Amino acid sequence: MQLDKVKNLPKKVVDSLENIDGLTVFLVQDYNNQFLRRLVDFGEDIFGELGMDEWGLVPQIRHGNVYVLKEEGKRNISGLAILMRDWEDSEKVYLFDFAIADELQGNRLGYHFLKIIIGNIKEQGFKRMSLTVDTENEPAIGLYEKIGFKITETSMDEYGKSHDRYIMVMEFQE
Ligand SMILES: CC(C)(COP(=O)(O)OP(=O)(O)OC[C@H]1O[C@@H](n2cnc3c(N)ncnc32)[C@H](O)[C@@H]1OP(=O)(O)O)[C@@H](O)C(=O)NCCC(=O)NCCS
Repeated sequence: MQLDKVKNLPKKVVDSLENIDGLTVFLVQDYNNQFLRRLVDFGEDIFGELGMDEWGLVPQIRHGNVYVLKEEGKRNISGLAILMRDWEDSEKVYLFDFAIADELQGNRLGYHFLKIIIGNIKEQGFKRMSLTVDTENEPAIGLYEKIGFKITETSMDEYGKSHDRYIMVMEFQE
């Protein structure tokens, strides 16, 4: 039945959050229209028109790595992360989108979600992760520094005028 299929997506469990009942990290390997819509809506709620639409998300699910944080069997998405392999450095993964649902922010979910993702990415053989972040996005910069990312460069007007970004990199320990 279609509804059951939706309920059971996504299927691949990566890990569960410590001490937070029911919240699980999934690696999204398949989708249907309803689940895809929920992912797009989640991104739009947080990033507005800069959120990834279906045309961006589907190739990411098929060819990149998309992780969601949610309760197993529930519809609500609590967190989303989109990663891609770097073309120049095949041991580097680029964190393209990372977000926790508005109403859940500030509860350490971002920290635990990203830690689990990094563990999984390391298991896949990657050696480093990079990202860019708005130079005024204090919560995100604070989170990334706490996890172990370092600012390596500032890129002015990265996405057009006034979109200044820090480039941050984390080298994984052996
Ligand atoms: C950035 C984001 C993912 C953080 O997730 P979160 O679950 O709220 O963060 P956590 O509660 O796990 O916080 C982890 C650390 O981040 C930092 N941090 C979190 N919120 C902060 C704030 N408002 N101000 C400063 N630092 C903050 C702190 O170092 C914190 O550690 P602490 O709790 O020991 O002080 C979340 O705010 C978010 O989704 N923001 C909107 C989307 C976004 O900007 N994404 C980043 C795009 S590059």
